Amino acid sequence: MKSSSITTKLLLLTTLVTILVISRANEELMMQLCHNSDNPTLCLRCLSSDPTSPKADQVQLARIILRCVNTHLITLTNNTSTLASMHPQDPKAADALKQCGLGYATAKRGVGKADAHLIAGDYDKAAYDVSVTVEAPPVSCRANLVTLNFDLPSSFRYQTEVYLALTQALLRIIDRF
Ligand SMILES: *[C@@H]1O[C@H](CO)[C@@H](O)[C@H](O)[C@H]1NC(C)=O
Ligand SMILES: *[C@@H]1O[C@H](CO)[C@@H](O)[C@H](O)[C@H]1NC(C)=O
Repeated sequence: MKSSSITTKLLLLTTLVTILVISRANEELMMQLCHNSDNPTLCLRCLSSDPTSPKADQVQLARIILRCVNTHLITLTNNTSTLASMHPQDPKAADALKQCGLGYATAKRGVGKADAHLIAGDYDKAAYDVSVTVEAPPVSCRANLVTLNFDLPSSFRYQTEVYLALTQALLRIIDRF
């Protein structure tokens, strides 16, 4: 009885140490993956927000970043429809915002394709999807709205910045696969 309880405790301790060593190793992997990006803090914040990241390999970590990109994409899509409903009397802005919405829908499909390519190990294709269909639409959306002198709310600017920073971090990570 006594010896079996010691065995249990030893097993527990071994498991704990293993978990600690793994998550420590993954912390280093995450830092290594994020440190090439222009904003390592946002990259690391995204990874630590996901409960599966302590056990994830580098491809799974890239997919976690893609999920964060997708979350911000949903917010941006919502924001453009909110903004469009706030400016019904401004046809140019309404049109630009509509184009933004179409661009985000393209980006959304790009996220799905990039994820499938990451799973399949087609890293060049994943990088292509991220740079052409995921990264480009919010850049042209913002540029078009700025050209119209549209008064962009700071929350929208911020969401776009974070989105682009995460996209850039993801590209740097995939480029090294
Ligand atoms: C969009 O965001 C607003 C708050 O900014 C919220 O009230 C609304 O429910 C959201 N819409 C969707 C479709 O998520
Ligand atoms: C954008 O969406 C986020 C989250 O729904 C919200 O906090 C923010 O206020 C929205 N901004 C605009 C301009 O709709």
